[in-house]
Amino acid sequence: MTPITPSRRKGIVLAGGSGTRLWPVTLGTSKQLLPVYDKPMIYYPISVLMQAAIQEIAVITTAEDQGNFMRLLGDGSQWGLSLTYIVQPQPDGLAQAYILARDFLNGAPSALVLGDNIFFGQGLQDSLAKADAKELGGTVFGYHVADPERYGIVSFDASGRVKDLVEKPAMPQSNYAVTGLYFLDGRAPALASHLKPSARGELEIVDLLTAYLHEGTLDVETLGRGYAWLDTGTCASLLDAGNFVRTLTERQGMQVGSPDEIAFKMGWIDVGAFAARAKMFGKSAYGKTLGTLGRDTAQ
Ligand code: DAU
Repeated sequence: MTPITPSRRKGIVLAGGSGTRLWPVTLGTSKQLLPVYDKPMIYYPISVLMQAAIQEIAVITTAEDQGNFMRLLGDGSQWGLSLTYIVQPQPDGLAQAYILARDFLNGAPSALVLGDNIFFGQGLQDSLAKADAKELGGTVFGYHVADPERYGIVSFDASGRVKDLVEKPAMPQSNYAVTGLYFLDGRAPALASHLKPSARGELEIVDLLTAYLHEGTLDVETLGRGYAWLDTGTCASLLDAGNFVRTLTERQGMQVGSPDEIAFKMGWIDVGAFAARAKMFGKSAYGKTLGTLGRDTAQ
């Protein structure tokens, strides 16, 4: 298999935070290490970056949880990736990720994904490729939700142009949430360093995006009915996300959000390395599905 050429864009997975909405579950571990059915939550956002052909990825965590992420993910070579680990000392806001990752990015454009966001959909790879190809400015993804007051919200004017971006508005002007996946150009760390903390004391991602919006370089792509963007913010939504993945995985016998599968399909690991991973996980549900995939590919 000819390997897919990696993007020059670098990836960031933001996997810190205090997880207070899931206490006591997250008192002893990080939210992004919790299972979503058959695999740790962070596998899903890593899979999204891999589908965007991104191979160089920084994982930002709390200091206390960093060792556990390293134990789980290693240096990334099992998936043909290069992983770097960065500590966020305090949960000072999503936009701080760019400041912390400035040296890692070294001027490169980036894709930041929140470590608790799960995306699924047939056309996802095409949407990611389009966002990756944009040189100046950035792209974010809007998704229609029933409860807009829980998210960053993008509203549109009568001609469909983006009007503004507001974090958790009390009176939402639209039902389109800004999902936790942000493609920005190489200026993001410099722009983020000019942000002032909001009233809740955080460097807000919507403020950074608004700087791009005012410059006229922000695209908002809406993810339509064919996509699932799953929430893991509450105990109930975490369980729902697990059940969604279980339903698809068991019905189709195929993986959802598996870095092993994507690495293999991208040609970043060979059939021997893939088979070794399937064997290593042979006793688990995850490993059994990988084994099926290996057989299908060999036929
Ligand atoms: O999921 C999409 C939403 O994510 C967006 O619509 C919002 O605009 C954005 O602010 C964010 O909202 P949340 O309420 O989900 O943000 P939360 O504070 O829960 O943080 C999201 C994840 O990022 C969570 O897993 C913890 C992690 N995090 C958060 C902060 C503030 C960090 O790693 N570091 C931080 O400083």
